[in-house]
Amino acid sequence: MATSTAPGKVYLFGEHAVVYGEPAVPCAVQRRAEVSVKERSSGLRVQAGDLTLSGFAVEYDGAELSRPDVDAPDALVDAALGYLNEALAQARDAANAPRAGFDVVVNSDIPLGAGLGSSAAVTVAAIDAATRSLGIELDRTELAERAYQVESAVQGGQASRADTFCSTMGGAVRVEGEDCQTIDAPDLPFVIGYDGNTGDTGALVADVRNLRNNYAFAADTISAIGDLVRRGERRLTSDAQAELGRLMNFNHGLLSALGVSARSLDAMVWAARNAGASGAKLTGAGGGGCVVALDETDETLTALNYTPECETAFRAALDTVGVQENS
Ligand code: MEV
Repeated sequence: MATSTAPGKVYLFGEHAVVYGEPAVPCAVQRRAEVSVKERSSGLRVQAGDLTLSGFAVEYDGAELSRPDVDAPDALVDAALGYLNEALAQARDAANAPRAGFDVVVNSDIPLGAGLGSSAAVTVAAIDAATRSLGIELDRTELAERAYQVESAVQGGQASRADTFCSTMGGAVRVEGEDCQTIDAPDLPFVIGYDGNTGDTGALVADVRNLRNNYAFAADTISAIGDLVRRGERRLTSDAQAELGRLMNFNHGLLSALGVSARSLDAMVWAARNAGASGAKLTGAGGGGCVVALDETDETLTALNYTPECETAFRAALDTVGVQENS
């Protein structure tokens, strides 16, 4: 049995625009997914708990997949299984073991489909654990690349390397097309608000692509996000928090213009700003899920906890540890 963990992330800046080659700066946060894998002669058995689902187990052999009985939208469960399936296919390919079967247990404290990188964290940890269970150890660059291939396959060819590179490396990263780098960043006072909803990343990315194909303003908005990220990355120091927050606010406005915000996300963003946060924005694909704000005081956390649209709010520190084997 091999067990690996990998962190979730928030986007300080740049989601969606990064799909079109603009830079983005995601930061890994201390909420992790843990995947344990044991080789078995054939087929696949998956048990998952704490994915903000009540926990589910599926067993399937080849094409036979029994639908798990869970209180979650089918699309979400399908997506979660899709990421796992593709991750295990990458592990078989890397280990040259095309017929390997696996027993997989997933435990995660990252809400599923909520903009905190749950799918990337599960994918990265699953490839790492599955390849270890087959007796090989991938270097991080190859692991990140294989995890990106998984996201790209599940999201219909429309994915950036940002989520998977961040989850593999930990800390703050900068991704622009194929250029992926770890960067220095202070431990910013992230406060996260979660509306209890989910967004369908593939569908939201496709919506933005349609908008960009049909409206010049959308293409301009995407390059404006890129300009904002280039400005923000030069100010990644703890004494520039006011400017970083201002840029996060602008970034949220531009994402709203692209149609990926939601009433609940806007309500949480405004609750954070009114409470004195330096800035607040949605994080990840949008449509529902999480916002991230900067505030070292307790005011934003308290305000979010009293906001009807917010199901839960919590602090999340930068996680400098990327994918890691759990012994
Ligand atoms: C989703 O977490 C981030 C997006 O930019 C998609 C991607 O980068 O693949 C919306």
